[in-house]
Amino acid sequence: MGRIKSGPPGQRAMLPLLLLVVVVFVWLPGRCIAQGGGGGGGQLTRGSFPNGFVFGTAAAAYQYEGAVKVDGRGQTIWDTFAHTFGKISDFSNADVAVDQYHRFQEDVQLMADMGMDAYRFSIAWSRILPNGTGQVNQAGIDHYNKVINALLSKGIQPYVTLYHWDLPQALEDRSKYKVSTSFSVLFDATQNGQLGIAFDVIWYEPMTNSTIDIEAAKRAQEFQLGWFADPFFFGDYPATMRKRVAERLPKFTADESALVKGALDFMGINHYTTFYTRNNNTNIIGKLLNDTLADTGTVSLPFDKNGKPIGDRANSIWLYIVPSGMRKLMNYVKERYNSPTVYITENGMDDSNNPFTSINDALKDSKRIKYHNDYLTNLAASIKEDGCDVRGYFAWSLLDNWEWAAGYTSRFGLYFVDYRDNLKRYPKNSVQWFKTLLSSS
Ligand code: BGC
Repeated sequence: MGRIKSGPPGQRAMLPLLLLVVVVFVWLPGRCIAQGGGGGGGQLTRGSFPNGFVFGTAAAAYQYEGAVKVDGRGQTIWDTFAHTFGKISDFSNADVAVDQYHRFQEDVQLMADMGMDAYRFSIAWSRILPNGTGQVNQAGIDHYNKVINALLSKGIQPYVTLYHWDLPQALEDRSKYKVSTSFSVLFDATQNGQLGIAFDVIWYEPMTNSTIDIEAAKRAQEFQLGWFADPFFFGDYPATMRKRVAERLPKFTADESALVKGALDFMGINHYTTFYTRNNNTNIIGKLLNDTLADTGTVSLPFDKNGKPIGDRANSIWLYIVPSGMRKLMNYVKERYNSPTVYITENGMDDSNNPFTSINDALKDSKRIKYHNDYLTNLAASIKEDGCDVRGYFAWSLLDNWEWAAGYTSRFGLYFVDYRDNLKRYPKNSVQWFKTLLSSS
């Protein structure tokens, strides 16, 4: 079972502008706190993580900015999709979203209030190159310079995602065009950084301890993470994929292989949940369609074979809370890719946008606090006890925002956004929890 999200899947290129940043150390009174319970390792503090470990929140242009027709921005595939009747579950679109295009100063202040070190946001390609290629739109460049300056003025490091699914429609229309060529314009504008990719990774736990299910879980992971990450480390797709997908899997030339191998400065990992995986060779429809699931010969579900859920459920269909998955995943990445540098580029949970819930009640997000506490506790253990090289953690998300095909039905924010009153932002209790953690020593 996959994530409930339609539209373009995929991985994102990320560029932390580390070298642009002046790091200022401010002494903060060391309070030994952090409510929220659990996770086994005592209370979380800054000291639970190595020196220099970066805490931030994450966001994406299309989910946040709005202002889709402002300052020369070109149309994207998500504008087209969101305006196609029946594609978005609440019939909304992101024309306004949470209006960060106009409210970024206020939002930067919200991050500063929490004591965050960094902000991961994406650049809308179609603001810079409205037609996908060619003429550069100076207003787009100016806008992101203002955002970056606002962040730096508060001591917040910008981590820039170069592409978070909002492909310019013009490029899609000229489908033979090499997307990578246009992409390089953005990278050229931001030299000196480090380059990585954010991979979306569910942890797959074998459904039973039979060898066949253990193998199935490994296979499912190779088809999920390995498909995209292996070429960067080994110059090729995983052997399992070669075998099962056979001639349908493209082959790397020696040059291509050499080009991608070793090209990442770090790995970004977006991690939310864990599923059980079992062997399954009877996917007849999948076999007819030649689809990926049929190729893996596995099925992954958030329930065990007796129907028992794998963990407590957030308020979404796919998101079950399984903090131990974080530690297992970090160890898997360490073993498979020989201790790469990792950033957790996204981790978080949503609440449903219930129109009958009062704002006051919506701000009491104790489940979210426990989620972050327990996932972070497992992350800290993977670093300190298992030696995984993880350098930072970005909570998804700063604000409630437009959740792709789920529209405004899902609220992932640390800050609540009032969609009925001029998009006013209110801190949920998790904001105070992060503030406490980040001001500890
Ligand atoms: C995506 C976000 C999305 C989040 C929650 C992530 O994988 O990068 O854009 O909002 O999942 O579904």
